[in-house]
This record gives sequence, structure tokens and C-alpha cells, in this order.
Amino acid sequence: MGKFDLCYVSLLVFILVVYSVVNVGSEGVIRVKYKFSGSERNLRALKAHDEMRHLRILAGIDLPIGGSGRPDSVGLYFAKIGIGTPPNNYTVQVDTGSNIMWVNSLQVDECPTRGYHGLELTLYNPKDSLTGKLILCGQSFCKNINRGSVPGCFGNSPCNYKQIYGDGSYSSGYLVEDVVQYDQVSGDLQTKSANGSVIFGCSASQSGDLSSSDEAFDGILGFGKSNSSILSQLASSGKVKNMFAHCLDGVNGGGIFAIGNVVQPKVNMTPLVPNQPHYSVDMMAVEVGYQFLNLSVDVLMNGENNGVIIDSGTTLAYLPEVIYAPLVKKILSWQPDLKLRKVRDEYTCFKYSESVDDGFPQVIFHFRNSLSLRVRPREYLFPFEDLFCIGWQNSGNQSRDKWNLTLFGDLVLSNKLVLYDLENQTIGWTEYNCSSSIQLKDEITGSVRLVGAHSLSSGSRLTAHTALTSLLLVALLHNCLFNW
Ligand SMILES: *[C@@H]1O[C@H](CO)[C@@H](O)[C@H](O)[C@H]1NC(C)=O
Ligand SMILES: *[C@@H]1O[C@H](CO)[C@@H](O)[C@H](O)[C@H]1NC(C)=O
Ligand SMILES: *[C@@H]1O[C@H](CO)[C@@H](O)[C@H](O)[C@H]1NC(C)=O
Ligand SMILES: *[C@@H]1O[C@H](CO)[C@@H](O)[C@H](O)[C@H]1NC(C)=O
Repeated sequence: MGKFDLCYVSLLVFILVVYSVVNVGSEGVIRVKYKFSGSERNLRALKAHDEMRHLRILAGIDLPIGGSGRPDSVGLYFAKIGIGTPPNNYTVQVDTGSNIMWVNSLQVDECPTRGYHGLELTLYNPKDSLTGKLILCGQSFCKNINRGSVPGCFGNSPCNYKQIYGDGSYSSGYLVEDVVQYDQVSGDLQTKSANGSVIFGCSASQSGDLSSSDEAFDGILGFGKSNSSILSQLASSGKVKNMFAHCLDGVNGGGIFAIGNVVQPKVNMTPLVPNQPHYSVDMMAVEVGYQFLNLSVDVLMNGENNGVIIDSGTTLAYLPEVIYAPLVKKILSWQPDLKLRKVRDEYTCFKYSESVDDGFPQVIFHFRNSLSLRVRPREYLFPFEDLFCIGWQNSGNQSRDKWNLTLFGDLVLSNKLVLYDLENQTIGWTEYNCSSSIQLKDEITGSVRLVGAHSLSSGSRLTAHTALTSLLLVALLHNCLFNW
């Protein structure tokens, strides 16, 4: 049995229910920080991260926790949220591939007490919170997630869940309800603290060697496509527009993660491929230095693999061999004298002393509705020691490799505002300075607010400002915590 055959294990998805959110409108921001920014970029870690992630993408898993106890393989961005009364802060991964919110609970077996960069992990205990309460198996949402009545449910039994992952690891625990604190956009470049009651998972035990991990986080905040996401739950109650956007600064790390309707900058949109577990779009053509690659529709659509997966939790960009080979050949044809070297058997690298933007072509991918995605040489060629390495990766061929996906990660998504519109099932992007500001429209009052990377003061938790109209899940990141 091959490595990937293990992936097809059934899983139980539990649903996050959110209700009674006070004072909600439609806009918000989450401050994020990029894990592999700047000097932290480590070649082996990049691909190890992507490989773990692809195991999950293949298995259609949308609640990723660490396979082999590696929670780091989930998302690349993390943020801080407050849970409970009085609130404790939790550092959670923000992930567009996950559909739920989930934190480690007190009972977690073999849980490390310190995680990423010595981060002191916080375990959630509903008994420590005045507002924390168990969800019981007889309650309607417990029945909903079990698609009917819960076997063996009687009396005051908690609502349990168990999640089995592609690599055989699992997380299990119970559902709780508690107050989650978030920041609301309250004015131009201003936020204020607010809270809402949320049902989320408490992971009581996990398999895998978590205790040795120095990459652990407190949990996951999911922005997946499923209607069980926190955003979809809020949207289904009519309180928010089911839209969010991210603008990830590939150079400095960080950026903007916003909930609501972005009205500035303007973004062209392309339809999402229906009935796919991930955010997938149809690619129509590939252009390299103003010349189109000669690729058939069948090749571009990647047969049964259904389009290009847009995944901010992947670092690089993966193309099936039938696209990768002509693309890289065309790029390298601009500098026929280069001496190519393999680094770590994984990356194709070379020495080049001029400006890569002048010496290599830009690559433009074209999608439905005339949406295009331009990737500059300085984005797809990354520096490593005294070399440049090609960021495009070969995901294999259909007959030989099980996963020959086309998957675009931060290599192509950073320095762009990417807008996800789940109401219209579209996605779009535009090149943008992720250290500047965007404008969000409040659907209730019609007012437009400025939201910037600098609208949340770093190192602070929940800041109080003036009156508000909107919701936002919040998560403020500590600069000092991780020495950024
Ligand atoms: C939640 O918000 C309400 C109303 O704004 C406030 O009275 C309460 O103290 C807040 N709770 C927490 C835990 O912050
Ligand atoms: C999510 O979608 C499923 C299937 O379409 C539906 O049965 C369920 O009611 C939806 N849930 C919400 C909260 O919209
Ligand atoms: C969503 O689709 C509707 C109907 O096609 C359209 O009127 C609306 O402008 C779209 N919304 C956005 C944000 O594009
Ligand atoms: C991006 O915006 C920030 C904040 O407005 C500004 O300081 C910076 O110079 C801009 N960067 C570029 C490349 O324009």
C-alpha cells in the first residue's frame, strides 16, 4: 500500500455553531503573521510543510491537525484570539483549508507546554471560564453533526467528536460553548473589543508525538469553503456577508485578513469550480513572457483533478509535469547559459548576478472571466545562499503519481489582495501593497471603513475605541511574543 493510500480514511467532521453574536455588522480584520517570512524561510521546512498539507488535501480533510503530531503542517498564518470569561489568549492558526475553530483542552494527553518559538501554550478548560459550558449529546447541533440522533446518548453526556486523519492520527474531544472575543472595525483604522458566544471543539486527546513538537499552536481558526465555518455560520444567520479577503505580505510577513465586502481595491472575480472541497478555479491559458504555452484544455483543466486549487496554507506552487516542464523550459530559455544545480534533490537552482526581473520573463495565468494572475521573476525565483532557486514545483504525472494537482500557494498569492466571495461562489485577486490599507463596506449602514495592516496596534490585545457597527473575529498578534 502506497503512502497516499492511507489517506482515504473516513472522517467525522464536526460543525461549529455560532450564535448570539452581539452588535454584528459585516466587516472585520484579523491580523496575521506569516510563519516562513524573512530569515525563517528554510528550504526543507517549506516543502515538508507542503507535503503534509497535500496529504490532507488529497484526503479531503478539512480539519487538519498534525499528522504525526505536527500541527504546523496546517496553516502558515497565525493570530491571537481571546476565549472565556475572564478571557485567556490563544494563538491559533488561520487556515483557509479548515472549516472549524478548535483549541487544545486541559485533558490533552502528552500535550507540550511550549510550542512554536517557545510560545507558552494555553490549554482551554471550560471550568475556568464563567461562561464556558459543555454541549450535551441531546442538543440539536450535536444531533446535526451526527446527522440524526447520537448513539448511546442519555442524560448529561457530553457531545463527543473524534477525528481521524489521513495518516492515521486522530484528535478527539468534546464540544463546548463559550464567549470568544474579537475586534470590530469601529471606524477608519479603528477597532473595538466585542464578543460572541461560539460552539467549538475542545481537543482532549490526540495521537502523535506532540510533546516533541516545537511547532505546536493552541488550535485552528478555519476559513474553509464549507458552510460549517465560523464565517458561514454567521452569514447564515444573516449577520455578515459571507466574504473575506487576505493580503499577505511575502516580504515582511503579516498583512491583512479581513471579513466583509472589500470595495477598495477593486477585484476581478472568477467562478469557483462547483462541488469541490477546496477553493478551485479553472485555468484557461499560461503565458510566459508574452508568449502562450501550447497547452490543451484537457491539460489546463488537469483531467479529473478539477482546476487549480488556491491555497494560502501552501508555500510554493505546484503544477503537473505536462505544464511544469514546458513552463520551466520556456523560462530558462531566456538564459540559455545558466548552469543548473540541484539543491537537496528538490530544487533547481543557479547562479545569477543580474536583476532576475530583467533577465527572466513574467508568468501570467489566465482564468475564466478574464481574470489573470501575474507572477514576477522575483516572486517565482527565490534566493538561497548565493543562488536563485525555481519556486515552481513538479507535482508529477497522471499515470505515475497519485497527486498531480495544480496548487497555488503563497509563492503566487502573496502581495495580492485575494477576495473570497462565498455568496456568489467566486474568488478574485489583484496586485496590492499588503502593508497599506483596504476599504470594507458595512452592509448594514452602507458606510465604508478603512482597514489597514497598521489599524491594530501590535502587541496589544483587544483595544477599545469608539462605537461600532460590525463584527470581526479577532485575533491580534503579539509582535514581541515571537520576536518579530
Ligand atoms: C461581552 O460583551 C458584553 C457586551 O458588550 C459585555 O458586557 C461582556 O463583559 C463581554 N464579555 C466578555 C467576556 O468580554
Ligand atoms: C450546510 O449545507 C448542508 C447541505 O447542503 C445543509 O443541509 C445544511 O443545512 C447547511 N448548513 C447551514 C448552517 O447552512
Ligand atoms: C453577486 O452576484 C449578484 C447577482 O449576479 C450581483 O448582483 C452582485 O453584484 C454580486 N456580488 C458581488 C460582490 O460581486
Ligand atoms: C506600501 O504601503 C506602505 C504604507 O502605506 C508604505 O509605507 C510603503 O512604502 C508601500 N510600499 C510600496 C512598495 O509602495
